Amino acid sequence: MPKTGTTAAPATNKKKPATDGSRASATTKASNSPRTPASGAGGLEIKDTRTSKEYTVPIVECAIRATELKKITTADPNDSGLMSYDPAFLNTASCRSAITYIDGDKGILRYRGYPIEQLAEKATFLEVAWLLRNGELPTQEEYDQFVHDVTWHTYVHENFRKFLEGFRYDAHPMAMLNSSIAGLASFYPTSRNIFDDKERNISIIRLLAKTPTIAAFSYRHVKGLPFVYPDNRLSYVENFLSMVNRMSESKYEANPTFVRALEILFILHADHEQNCSTSAVRGVGSSHVDPFSAMSAGVAALFGPLHGGANEQVLRMITEIGNVKNVPKFIESVKSGEGGRLMGFGHRVYKSYDPRAKIVKRLADEVFKVVGVDKDLEIALELERIALSDEYFTSRKLYPNVDFYTGLIYRSMGFPTDFFTVLFAIARMSGWLAQWEEMLLDKEQKISRPRQIYIGPKERQYQTRLTRAR
Ligand code: CMC
Repeated sequence: MPKTGTTAAPATNKKKPATDGSRASATTKASNSPRTPASGAGGLEIKDTRTSKEYTVPIVECAIRATELKKITTADPNDSGLMSYDPAFLNTASCRSAITYIDGDKGILRYRGYPIEQLAEKATFLEVAWLLRNGELPTQEEYDQFVHDVTWHTYVHENFRKFLEGFRYDAHPMAMLNSSIAGLASFYPTSRNIFDDKERNISIIRLLAKTPTIAAFSYRHVKGLPFVYPDNRLSYVENFLSMVNRMSESKYEANPTFVRALEILFILHADHEQNCSTSAVRGVGSSHVDPFSAMSAGVAALFGPLHGGANEQVLRMITEIGNVKNVPKFIESVKSGEGGRLMGFGHRVYKSYDPRAKIVKRLADEVFKVVGVDKDLEIALELERIALSDEYFTSRKLYPNVDFYTGLIYRSMGFPTDFFTVLFAIARMSGWLAQWEEMLLDKEQKISRPRQIYIGPKERQYQTRLTRAR
């Protein structure tokens, strides 16, 4: 049976796999990941047993294009071609990205090629935010201008006070943050010109600058405290802590250990490639909506307990366990499925220790040296110890993720439990913005629109089941 080539790519040559020159240079420039054309190019031979036809689908960068499968059809006139079915995107790349690299088996995380460990130790959060967006570390001049711009835009419109005051006293700060970020679009109507470089730039600066302000205002609202305006003499993190904590003092002096700890936590949470919230930002942004609306989609996705909301849930879980002697019983309830999941454990990508979790654990020790050991650290350590030696968790490669210990640090710094995910959102805003811009400028991207396999009823005729006349 003759082969039905799906494209002209010379992928059928088994002896000498072809490479795609044009992509080769783009990929080599983008990263030093193992997914380079040299190792990833070739062809996939497919035989459709329904028709006995054979196809060769090009492999580039260790991937096949799902649209190539569309060419695999039967004689059925209703057959619109083969699809790939991948609920929850377990094995489907939705983009090519040069921002963040993760090797989940080896526990590697790099932003633009720089290991997370080095950035956490040496960089500032705004330096990382610049790096994520621009691909290179800023020069001193670029950094100074960037810090100036972000600092300049920290204030929000006075009407925002009224907007936030409309929330109930016990509103969840993530719900407030989510709607406030979306609400910013109404203050900046020209931000809809997303393909205008200047507009895009100022929107990115505004989102980086105002997210901590809105987050801090949400905190103060729940506490019933007056809003504290930004103090532009302070650094990004110090300013945030000042807006959260300042009372009557004229200048807030933050604890330097807390400032550095929060800066590191912001760096660790800044980006994580195509996770749930980033995919939400890219998906919503792909409709070419304004960036404030797209970023609010990210905040909404992050709120969920399986994603950023896990840090809050870890603390609730530990509080419920209550005592270290209850840990074995709790672990058994997780294993039987009755007790829910062990929050802060497991990850879609990391199948070994999350590299961020290692850094967070060390950081916890530093913070505890200043404020004393958290009363529940013992429970967390025992959970980790038992889980890491239990076959249920080891066989499923479930290790502590970044959120397992962050809650204990945040609590030691005085943050209430439902504020933890807000801290994650402030940091992740930098990654969402970089990913959003990369998506917009990527000529291959279109409006995000997955397909489905329809499993509902066939056509049927309408017959009302209502009994009362309309
Ligand atoms: N506790 C107990 N069992 C678990 C856990 C857990 N935390 N995570 C996964 N499993 C089990 C799951 O029941 C399944 O078992 P089986 O094969 O017998 O059905 C297996 O491990 C695979 O789980 P999955 O749900 O298919 O894995 P996933 O990749 O879809 O989910 C996850 C990843 C992070 C949502 C999940 O591990 C989880 O729910 N963890 C707890 C929530 C959490 O800590 N989330 C924060 C993630 S890191 C921060 C971030 O980037 O958002």
